[in-house]
Amino acid sequence: MLFRQSGRSLVVQTPAKLNLFLEVLGKRPDGYHELETLMAAVGWYDTLRLTEADSDRVEFRVRLAGRWHSAAGSGDVPGGEDNLVLRAARLLQGETGVRRGARLELWKRIPPASGLAGGSSDAAAALAGLNRVWRLGLSREALVELAARLGSDVPFFLAGSPVVICRGRGERLEPLAVPANVWFVIGRPASGLSTAEVYRHCRPAEHPRTVVRFAESLQRGRLAESAAALHNALEAPATRLNTEVATLTHWFRRQPVAGHQMSGSGTACFAVCRTCRQARRTAVRLAATGLATAVAVRIAA
Ligand code: C5P
Repeated sequence: MLFRQSGRSLVVQTPAKLNLFLEVLGKRPDGYHELETLMAAVGWYDTLRLTEADSDRVEFRVRLAGRWHSAAGSGDVPGGEDNLVLRAARLLQGETGVRRGARLELWKRIPPASGLAGGSSDAAAALAGLNRVWRLGLSREALVELAARLGSDVPFFLAGSPVVICRGRGERLEPLAVPANVWFVIGRPASGLSTAEVYRHCRPAEHPRTVVRFAESLQRGRLAESAAALHNALEAPATRLNTEVATLTHWFRRQPVAGHQMSGSGTACFAVCRTCRQARRTAVRLAATGLATAVAVRIAA
């Protein structure tokens, strides 16, 4: 997450994430699933501009700035009180009693319903940004606690590290030091998937895999070994629910990339590439097929 002051406004660039490893360990009494997942923030950003207001009103406006909406439709991005950005602002106001307002403008580039956690990233940006703009002085721990109430993926974006192992529902964070020169191509088909629906169709693993081996090979920069150990337990149910995931996976299988899989609950899929050049070329080839919107990215700074 990158912060920049611009006149009276704070501008936050907030990234998408990829799940490089995701195991479902069990179903919990609260209805959520116990996870072990390794997430990486990558260089595909939404922008949130926060300006302190003279009144105590919070105004919110969202603009679709990505290349995906012509294909994917924009119905999945709520513009009102349902948007996680506004919910984050209301949560901060309620918890701290702050009597300040703000104008919040969001430029959305990360496609929704894709397993890239764009909405969660926006919510984290709103929490971290308003903490600064309203001079609340909340600690990282306090922000992470509030983030978990907004959604399972929101805490990850406040970890202060681009690569993190997340456990529990997603809120227990273990940051990892990983070389940043890993390149990916992300493909997002025209349709999306509902996270809740995908989880409803998944069965916890009988013999769960552990993230340890994957994390070690990634930390040592062993690309081929990491790519061979990619894992996402949500890919099977998502593929059953959405045929575009299977089509995109089939396309990636025939490319000379190090490895590939779906991110989170889909429908976005990604390939791990050996070089920046391979990532850019693969993105161009994928876009030309018309199967998906494609971007080449690397692990976020
Ligand atoms: O936490 P969030 O609101 O993002 O989760 C969306 C839905 O995904 C939840 O309502 C739940 O059905 C499912 N989920 C789950 N286990 C998790 C995270 C999400 O079952 N660890």
